[in-house]
Amino acid sequence: MAVETAARQPLLLTRIADAREWVSRERRAGCRIGLVPTMGALHAGHGSLAARARSECDRVVATVFVNPTQFAPHEDFQRYPRTLAADLTLLGGIGVDMVFAPDAGEMYRGGATHAGTGAGASGVAATSVIPSTVAATLEGECRPGHFAGVATVVLKLFHIVPADVAYFGAKDYQQTLVLRRMVEDLDVPIRIEVCPTIRESDGLAMSSRNRYLSPEERERALSLSRGLAAAERAFAAGERSAAVLEQLARRELELAGAGPIDYVALADPETLDRPQRAGDRAVLLIAARVGGTRLIDNRMLQ
Ligand code: PAJ
Repeated sequence: MAVETAARQPLLLTRIADAREWVSRERRAGCRIGLVPTMGALHAGHGSLAARARSECDRVVATVFVNPTQFAPHEDFQRYPRTLAADLTLLGGIGVDMVFAPDAGEMYRGGATHAGTGAGASGVAATSVIPSTVAATLEGECRPGHFAGVATVVLKLFHIVPADVAYFGAKDYQQTLVLRRMVEDLDVPIRIEVCPTIRESDGLAMSSRNRYLSPEERERALSLSRGLAAAERAFAAGERSAAVLEQLARRELELAGAGPIDYVALADPETLDRPQRAGDRAVLLIAARVGGTRLIDNRMLQ
């Protein structure tokens, strides 16, 4: 006789009103709600956030929404991988209770605009969040409007799914700083938990965009984590010069033929200010292109 081993699929909701109703019912029943916002094309990095939420909360909600307003017009919004069926299976296996996967028309009734562009379909610019100055540098410089798009959609998701805790990955380090400041500054009653970066066994940080890489590009992409590791070893041996630590990482990228490099930056872990010398703690952040794919990674040096 066949044994039933299939994990339960999460409840899939696509309408804001339905999601809100489901969450308020669970809250009224006294459940503690954990939220994992994602853009789908899920991998074990996303899975680790959901598993952490599962272990800490009574109900776990994941959202799957490829948010147009955080992509600039020339970026990969159109070709961003969309794998909802597989995502539901992965989330079901972890015991996620509900998945909210709206389409762009549901999320942006006035029409969505791409990052850095103006008004929506109605011709009127929609209300949006202006993120704190921590959004101005690094990713914010390379991707103008990106963090306004991220902060706005995350705030919308927080209103649709008023969770107790929301889980984000350290992989997107600057994003976690932007969102922490947002909940603080706007008095959003949701605690933000940041979970460690999950890597492939060879060190490559897991990313939905890794599937764009050819086998040869994937080899070159390893230079990001190798560069961070080289800087970390030097830091552990007492090196504190930002220029030297950055150069050690940059050299790995250059040797591998990765690039153009958007930045290799040693920064203060809270403000992202750029010190000339690292203190007891500093974060090293990298963004570089490998072939046509833009990758980011970071490591805390401490
Ligand atoms: P996405 O890139 O799908 O990532 C969703 C969450 O998974 C983010 O918090 C991200 O930091 C985390 N994550 C991605 N790769 C990870 C890894 N290797 N290890 C651990 N966590 C990882 O980030 C976004 O979507 C969007 O900007 C979003 C917040 C959903 C707003 O649209």
